[in-house]
Amino acid sequence: MSLDDRARSLPVSADAGARDPVVNVNSLTKRYGEVVAVDGLTFSLRSGTVTGFLGPNGAGKTTTLRLLLGLAQPTAGEALVFGRRYRDLDDPARRVGAVLESSDFHPGRSGREHLRALALAAEIPASRVEEVLALVELVAAAGRRVKTYSLGMRQRLALAGALLGDPALLVLDEPANGLDPAGSAGCGAFCAGSRSRAARCSSRAICSPRPRRPSIKS
Ligand SMILES: Nc1ncnc2c1ncn2[C@@H]1O[C@H](COP(=O)(O)OP(=O)(O)OP(=O)(O)O)[C@@H](O)[C@H]1O
Ligand SMILES: [Mg+2]
Repeated sequence: MSLDDRARSLPVSADAGARDPVVNVNSLTKRYGEVVAVDGLTFSLRSGTVTGFLGPNGAGKTTTLRLLLGLAQPTAGEALVFGRRYRDLDDPARRVGAVLESSDFHPGRSGREHLRALALAAEIPASRVEEVLALVELVAAAGRRVKTYSLGMRQRLALAGALLGDPALLVLDEPANGLDPAGSAGCGAFCAGSRSRAARCSSRAICSPRPRRPSIKS
């Protein structure tokens, strides 16, 4: 089943959005020396929403997502997922899936081996690897070494890794980067069709009009 098919099959819940915020960002600030990457950002996202995170290059979108995922520490304020810092979550692989700008893969491993290693570490059954490979339409290339993958194939593999734990929250930075039109459309439809059960947070640079700070669109 492709991302597009999966999107169509997902039910739409009547109470979507009625629960506690999945993401809570309060007065979040991150400075790198003289550079203020994120400046007093506050927003919250509820379950069942798909949110686009818009702003020009350098506006602080990726930094905000990194702070949310505990990959950088705030200078001030807080970024919480499910009411906690990411590093304090129980079973984070099943709660949050993420694709950030640069995904690291062992170049000598096949796509399938990469996903199996992730699944093993997160105690996710190997059968789920085959499911996510089918979901991102990478089955045919799954046995090839990642160093032979194209940009879009690597992006699909990263997305497969994010989906492994069937997480309630997906954080995608430039999710359509490198994808062909079909993959890009499938990714968009998947996010839109998944709003019943999750908050999806994506980062895209849209430069016109150019806001000076990132803005949030649900
Ligand atoms: N590790 C770092 N060290 C120093 N400065 C950094 C670091 N990470 C980000 N920055 C700076 O913080 C600012 C925000 O960067 P960020 O990557 O969050 O932007 P972005 O909105 O994701 O941009 P893009 O649309 O190009 O992906 C930029 O000025 C960047 O140079
Ligand atoms: Mg970025």
